[in-house]
Amino acid sequence: LSSIEVDISKILPGQGIKTSWRKQPVFVRNLTPDEINKANAVQVSELRDPQTLADRTKPGKANWLITLGVCTHLGCVPLGIGEGEARGDYGGYFCPCHGSHYDTAARIRKGPAPKNLHVPDYSFKSDTVVQIG
Ligand code: FES
Repeated sequence: LSSIEVDISKILPGQGIKTSWRKQPVFVRNLTPDEINKANAVQVSELRDPQTLADRTKPGKANWLITLGVCTHLGCVPLGIGEGEARGDYGGYFCPCHGSHYDTAARIRKGPAPKNLHVPDYSFKSDTVVQIG
């Protein structure tokens, strides 16, 4: 399938789901207001891969963070999408393979990964359905 539709209606703030698209894991996370504020408080020029949260989300939907679940170092699946999983020093995702820490916009903050988690092409079909791809 070149694209998939994901029902996001049951994902509460602070929660996320892992789905898959083109055989790759995809993380769909509903950020809390605090997580959004943390992402927006960062000095973008100091980032390894400088992007704002707005660069990585859709207008008016800053709470929906949709990324591949593939570490940009060597491709492990980071932790942080599952309930109770480690989210690393910046509250986003943590890759246990070699210790990459991603923030609440899934931007690389510490460790060997060179890039932020990749944001795939996606669009909102409605308030509760997202098409990925
Ligand atoms: Fe994630 Fe190396 S693959 S830190």
